[in-house]
Amino acid sequence: MNRLEMPAIKRRDALIACAATAAGAKAAAAPQSAPAPAAATRATPRMAVSLNVNGQARQLELDTRTTLLDALREHLHLTGSKKGCDHGQCGACTVIVDGRRINACLTLAVMHDGAQVTTIEGLGSAQQLHPMQAAFIKHDGFQCGYCTPGQICSAVAVLDEIKNGIPSHVSADLGAQPLLSLEELRERMSGNLCRCGAYSNIVDAMAEVGGVA
Ligand code: FES
Ligand code: FES
Repeated sequence: MNRLEMPAIKRRDALIACAATAAGAKAAAAPQSAPAPAAATRATPRMAVSLNVNGQARQLELDTRTTLLDALREHLHLTGSKKGCDHGQCGACTVIVDGRRINACLTLAVMHDGAQVTTIEGLGSAQQLHPMQAAFIKHDGFQCGYCTPGQICSAVAVLDEIKNGIPSHVSADLGAQPLLSLEELRERMSGNLCRCGAYSNIVDAMAEVGGVA
């Protein structure tokens, strides 16, 4: 039988044969029993967290990825602490945890189980201002006010840091009691940004409360 007499293989049959071969090869290469997409169906991990916020015991059941800032703002509805950058760069979210100021956007709430947290709402009230709040008003330490809760929490903690002998980048002698100077105040507040540029007035307010001569 010469070549011209061979029965023609239809194009459609050839395609079906190729597809079947490819499918067979793929099946052979695949794992015998593909695991079920467990991650997609697994429940989001949650954890119980106890915080003392502004003197009140609060119990939360949180997704373990919840930041302290979101726990305060979204779960406890304490919206004084602000979310500026959510990346640890602006200081708008500063709160005081166990006596130390921290960026609440950079830490997970579950890391602070049992902690004492102070937010701007806990420092003072409209009827009874904290001395730092009163000084900010007196010295015009704000304009739009967005950064102000973080500035005030930071300012209160800065004065405690100096009192407790914690040195800063500009402290000349790391072993000596830091000076309560304008240079120290400016350096220690450098992580709190103010788009309105109220910096000099903020330092004036802090200097008054701190008793800088
Ligand atoms: Fe936390 Fe900016 S919102 S540092
Ligand atoms: Fe407006 Fe500071 S007062 S950002």
